[in-house]
Amino acid sequence: MAPSSISTSAPGVRQADFRFRCIACGQLSDTASADFRCADCHDLLEITYPSWKHTRPEPEQLISLWRNRRLLMNDADLSGVWRFRELLPAIDDAQIVTLREGNTPLYELPRCARKLGIPRLLAKHQGMNPTSSFKDTGMTVAATFARRAGFRWVACASTGNTSASMAAYASRGGMRSLVLVPEGKISWSKLSQALDYGALTCQLRTDFDGCLRLLQDLVLRAPVYQLNSINPFRLEGQKTVALELLEQLEWSPPDHIIVPGGNLGNSSAIGKAFLEMRELGLISRLPKLSVIQAAGANALARTVREGGKHLISVQPETRATAIRIGNPASWKKAVHVLEATGGACEEVSEIEIAGAKAEIGAEGIGCEPASAVTLAGLKKLLLRKFVRPEETVVLVLTGSSLKDPDYTIDFHRGELFKGTCDESAAAALNPLRRPPIVLDATLDAVIRTLNEAEKA
Ligand code: F0G
Repeated sequence: MAPSSISTSAPGVRQADFRFRCIACGQLSDTASADFRCADCHDLLEITYPSWKHTRPEPEQLISLWRNRRLLMNDADLSGVWRFRELLPAIDDAQIVTLREGNTPLYELPRCARKLGIPRLLAKHQGMNPTSSFKDTGMTVAATFARRAGFRWVACASTGNTSASMAAYASRGGMRSLVLVPEGKISWSKLSQALDYGALTCQLRTDFDGCLRLLQDLVLRAPVYQLNSINPFRLEGQKTVALELLEQLEWSPPDHIIVPGGNLGNSSAIGKAFLEMRELGLISRLPKLSVIQAAGANALARTVREGGKHLISVQPETRATAIRIGNPASWKKAVHVLEATGGACEEVSEIEIAGAKAEIGAEGIGCEPASAVTLAGLKKLLLRKFVRPEETVVLVLTGSSLKDPDYTIDFHRGELFKGTCDESAAAALNPLRRPPIVLDATLDAVIRTLNEAEKA
């Protein structure tokens, strides 16, 4: 069929109208306050689609509609997020702010699989988005609704990726952006993106949690639109990674999906997607969604160990700066997803993160340290037999390795753990290191080096 003859809608398939629902007291509302908290109990909001109860879209129609749109050339269909717009809040296509996000590859990791003794391991690489992290899938939706609400300014607190993404989408949408980042605690690469995309960038003398607290007060005092993952439109966009993954797997769910955990928006969004897909009959069983944290920023892991009823916040410390968060805003949503899907929460050490990142890199796939926690966590889940070798596992890689080149260079030069309590244990990682070699510019020197490498 020629692309021009394909319909972008199908009979009986409508784009979803929505309401806000408080995750604690269940109160429904048509509007949300500036801090996206329940007017009654102040807990977080989520977006729901009451119309699904009576006009439920047919799964077969949705599947063929979404597949056919892949051949179309208009902005909404070229976006790997808006292609799935029947499961997103309704908006006119002309109002969408997009950089053609989503459409990310699902890679095999054969060498990692072999090393783990499992037949197959898959990685969904969200670092292949326009600003090189998964944040773009949520930002396209939230920036679209910010613009529709008439905001001139949008703002976020960030460990780096959210700010890079927000700055880009704000500029695309003709809005100004205010970035609050912890001074000295984010990578230069991410900071440079925010500057490049024209954000007003403030480096605050605090950590991420301090930046987020301040932002929550700011949005109640100034006309700025809050674009952190507390904003439920962000999570609606981030849901689409699960839809795209299932499409790539021909709607056969994997057994496990493993996600890094920081502020816990992403795990909440992906879990919500799976629950909705089951509700709509797109899948008949749920994958187990597991969340992995750095041991130095393990608020969710500790909270789950203590029964999951109260957040146990921590003073965060990790070189995986993207997830250096001690007081995750979406912890209740994440606990719900772990319970609903039967997933686990694990924590991994700095050495385990560095080793896993190098192993993924050696497959020709660059990811940032926060993404590598997924492979490190899988090793632990296999050891404790939570994941069985014959099961299908998908790791969600959240950011590109170019997001934090200093980490990679320090690792390969053997400087990552210098002066830390891990210094001697880090020797175990030496076989994974490929430090650059400085040579005289002679043919002999290069051939000798090549021969030595071949023998090693
Ligand atoms: N991986 C990367 C690369 C991230 O940037 C983040 C979060 C996460 C994982 C964790 O996702 O917060 O939804 O649990 N980065 C945020 C930011 C906090 O500001 O860029 P989460």
